[in-house]
Amino acid sequence: MKKIKRLVFSLLILFSMNSFSQPEIEKKVDALLSQMTLEEKVGQMTQVTLDVICKGKPFDEKKKQELDKDMLKKVLVDYKVGSILNTGAYTLPREQWYEIISEIQKIALKQTRLKIPVIYGIDAIHGANYTVGATLFPQQLGLAATWNPEFAEQMGAITAYEVRASAIPWNFSPVLDLGRQPLWSRFFETFGEDPYLATLMGDATVKGYQGDNVGDPEKVAACLKHFVGYSNSRSGKDRTPIMMTERELREYYLVPFKSAIEKGAQTIMINSSEIDGVPVHADYHILTSILKEELKFDGFAVTDWEDIVMLHTVHNVADSEKEAVKLAINAGVDMSMVPLKLDFADHLIELVKEGQVPMERIDDAVRRILRVKYRLGLFEKVYYDMKRYPKFGSPEFAEASYKAALESVTLLKNNDRVLPMAKDKKVLVTGVAGNSMIYLNGAWTHTWQGQDPSYDTKGKKTIYQAISDIIGKDNTFYLQGTTEDKDVNTAEVVAKAKEADYIVVCLGELPSTEKVGDIEDLTFPQAQLNLVAELKKTNKPVIVVLVESRPRIFSSVESSMDAILMAYRPGDEGGRAIAATIFGLNNPSGKLPFTYPKHTGSLVLYDHKYSEKRDKNFAFNAFNPQFEFGTGLSYTTFAYSDLKLDKTRCSESESITVSVKVTNTGQLEGKEVVQLYTRDHYASITPSVKRLRRFTKINLKPGESKIVQFTLNKDDLSFLNRKLEWITEPGKFDIMIGDQKAEFEYYIKTTNN
Ligand code: BGC
Repeated sequence: MKKIKRLVFSLLILFSMNSFSQPEIEKKVDALLSQMTLEEKVGQMTQVTLDVICKGKPFDEKKKQELDKDMLKKVLVDYKVGSILNTGAYTLPREQWYEIISEIQKIALKQTRLKIPVIYGIDAIHGANYTVGATLFPQQLGLAATWNPEFAEQMGAITAYEVRASAIPWNFSPVLDLGRQPLWSRFFETFGEDPYLATLMGDATVKGYQGDNVGDPEKVAACLKHFVGYSNSRSGKDRTPIMMTERELREYYLVPFKSAIEKGAQTIMINSSEIDGVPVHADYHILTSILKEELKFDGFAVTDWEDIVMLHTVHNVADSEKEAVKLAINAGVDMSMVPLKLDFADHLIELVKEGQVPMERIDDAVRRILRVKYRLGLFEKVYYDMKRYPKFGSPEFAEASYKAALESVTLLKNNDRVLPMAKDKKVLVTGVAGNSMIYLNGAWTHTWQGQDPSYDTKGKKTIYQAISDIIGKDNTFYLQGTTEDKDVNTAEVVAKAKEADYIVVCLGELPSTEKVGDIEDLTFPQAQLNLVAELKKTNKPVIVVLVESRPRIFSSVESSMDAILMAYRPGDEGGRAIAATIFGLNNPSGKLPFTYPKHTGSLVLYDHKYSEKRDKNFAFNAFNPQFEFGTGLSYTTFAYSDLKLDKTRCSESESITVSVKVTNTGQLEGKEVVQLYTRDHYASITPSVKRLRRFTKINLKPGESKIVQFTLNKDDLSFLNRKLEWITEPGKFDIMIGDQKAEFEYYIKTTNN
């Protein structure tokens, strides 16, 4: 009987997924498109924010989210709008998401001529962060620190499940911008500075979101953002000019996008900024020539927030909003996140009638949008019964987030093996991030900026609470010390420290993102640095936990820190993960996915050029970060030996096999990320001092050794030349793993060699 039930259930799942083949979808799209009026087509290209169809003032975090029937009719029936986004201002219970979305779909399916379902999109960037009770994961930068793409895939799969469980089929994630500008407010949303690491993590996330069939009721369409180069502004401020050659753009920033598009990502969101004076929303070269023609992207491109209007109001490349619409649509924008004003649609209809935007462009955009709606199965079923998702917010999902957080924690310093601590000690926890969930989660948590603790998920533990759960209330004290930038009671904390065996100072950066997160100074505010310096005077061991969105500089007090744990934004299970690491219940294995700078004037990346190594004495000693990319300590130790190459010369048709022995030389079981870098000795474009080409994470028992093998080929040694061609030049290369190094020669086969 059970078997029959299981069979019926599997068949139900099968038929409830998008059940059309790609050629069938194309036929259906064409048939539908041929019936559509211009107004209906433009409606599909229009996306408004939920606030537009809700009562009350937009962005009022305290108002009750209630649909406005008249506006609903105006938007969906009169303007035939095909997409809605976002939460009004704060997280909603699942029941309410169902109510809102079913009402929207009911109108789209019953009151419009062609009954085209609405595609609802949301920023669920580290879990279903706008649904009450959802599972919240470490933000992307923390996931990257695990150097374990399995966690990215799991985060994607669980998020997809919980977002779909909230009746939403489209997620504005992952961020594939590279974290190569540490000042940027959205650094924590990236997978760090390296294109190879970001590519593997990005691909895994997309796989988690979309699975093999994006129409599966447990999957969502991914949205790669922000295409392309957005993270690399010259000033470090959000949405300010990027000055970058196409060579650099392609060699670094395009790489993770290209890969995720090849893996089938359904949608992309466009970079809000400008590159070399051209706002990307008006850039035909990037949006059409590269994205659609060269990369053969067949999904759709959505603007970022209000970005068409901003071609007129901010970038000053269009002298009216109508001109802005013309520039953007002709450049290749498929859907406009308007998100408040419907006159985008009026302008576009006029432009088509005047012959300023060709109908083929409109048809191309609408075809792409309908294609994704079909692939998502929205024409078959717009949402599923809430009961279909029994694992929503379950302990099983929380455990997955906890494990990811455990592997993300990065031990950056551990003088005299001060960590792990024994459990029979008294611990003073202090610092603004020490007893707070909002600091652990960061922005895009329950609200846009994530600063309101009144929405905290019930039952989750702060660092202080989690420590006290392990060693008991009587042995744990918490005093705040400072706010983000002001003293609160440092003197009192110092007095209390006398009663403690250890001090855990949780330095923190208030959650923020986008323009709101622009900063003037990368250094930690003085009040927090002062707290560390004052506490060190007590001669008690000072353990610092960093809870931040980007590498805030603390070099002036680094010598006062006995141990440093990087937490990133570890999510709802982050408090437990930090506490477990402090007491040795977790052996840390996170590695920095970026270079941690020591000085504000030296924001140099790991793959810098030789000229960036030169100091004022012309010696090659200038690269001197606080902590290097790829580093992170363990409570055990690892030794590398026996680096071997299967050949010392390698031609273009061959591959080279590299092996290295890694041994756990300490007393504890632990995980190590084995990283392979290459160095090109000489090249016609100045080579980097090293580039990451491969990595793997292995587990070793005390005394255990493993031989790790990697295979490299010509493409792994290539770079982009001035003609924008990927080439590998003959010559010598180094391979570096841990402290091991070997050299080989790459050559082009001729009849003479
Ligand atoms: C952000 C995007 C986000 C969008 C929708 C924008 O301001 O840049 O990352 O997806 O808003 O909320």
